[in-house]
Amino acid sequence: MAKTHQDGEIRFDPATVLITGASSGIGAELARFYARSGRRLVLWGRDPARLEQVARDCRTMGATVATRELNLADGAAAIAAFRADDDAYPVDLLILAAGLGDMRQQAALTERAETVLELGLVNFATPAALATAGAERMVGRRRGHIVLLGSVAAFHALPFAAGYSGSKAGLARFAEALRNGLLEHGVGVTLVSPGFVDTPMSRRVSSTKPFLQSAPQAARLIARAVEEERPHLIFPRIFAGLRLLDIVLPRPIRDFVLRRLKAEQAPRPTI
Ligand SMILES: NC(=O)c1ccc[n+]([C@@H]2O[C@H](COP(=O)([O-])OP(=O)(O)OC[C@H]3O[C@@H](n4cnc5c(N)ncnc54)[C@H](OP(=O)(O)O)[C@@H]3O)[C@@H](O)[C@H]2O)c1
Repeated sequence: MAKTHQDGEIRFDPATVLITGASSGIGAELARFYARSGRRLVLWGRDPARLEQVARDCRTMGATVATRELNLADGAAAIAAFRADDDAYPVDLLILAAGLGDMRQQAALTERAETVLELGLVNFATPAALATAGAERMVGRRRGHIVLLGSVAAFHALPFAAGYSGSKAGLARFAEALRNGLLEHGVGVTLVSPGFVDTPMSRRVSSTKPFLQSAPQAARLIARAVEEERPHLIFPRIFAGLRLLDIVLPRPIRDFVLRRLKAEQAPRPTI
């Protein structure tokens, strides 16, 4: 891995990149972004056909690619799998992109307990454990970078998506704490908080999606934030303003606004 800062130019050239959620959306675009000759990609996902399609695209671009099918709801299996992959090819850049989007169905009074558990595992517990497994190895090598995909939903207590916004808020706090702990050990951490990105996840949301960005755009912004070793990337920038507003508004006003927000999301397709 080379990180060179010359004449204002920043180059980040990881030899091995491991990406979870590489079978779709932002993770798949990041895989294509980093695919090039001389680089090894380790791509994780659940859907074998989509994962293999992304792997084929990346091989065409010259990368050496290994794939792994794994359900991140099984955190212990994910930790073991990471260690096996890192033993084979030490990971320079670990991108934890996999995530689940879900919210209360319109007709329901609450979210489903099983769904909230799954969101907690896939969006928070397993990525936090994987980031720690990555950090353990990277600290020993005194190099590496870890990216965690959060969401702007973490900034707001969304009554219709307590499981999603709560899991992403937990991940955000974890990422900040991890970054502070690793700063002096040569390992970087970037938290990414996207607004709406055009992917299968957001396409299930039928309400308006303001400031929608494309997945390739998102991948470029994330890669740039990694190069610049930014602690936190929020895009589009307007969501940074909304985050501040959420912090400064008096609670009764904030709660009044949040309770009036409406969103609808089609059920997830079964894998
Ligand atoms: N799209 C947006 O508007 C948006 C906004 C804010 C944050 N984000 C975050 O960005 C990340 C990427 O989302 P996306 O928009 O690219 O969504 P996506 O197209 O639905 O992709 C989600 C990825 O996560 C993987 N995944 C989901 N559940 C999994 C599980 N239990 N085990 C293993 N892998 C699992 C999926 O694998 P399979 O498809 O193979 O199951 C897929 O590769 C997520 O963390 C999401 O929360 C997205």
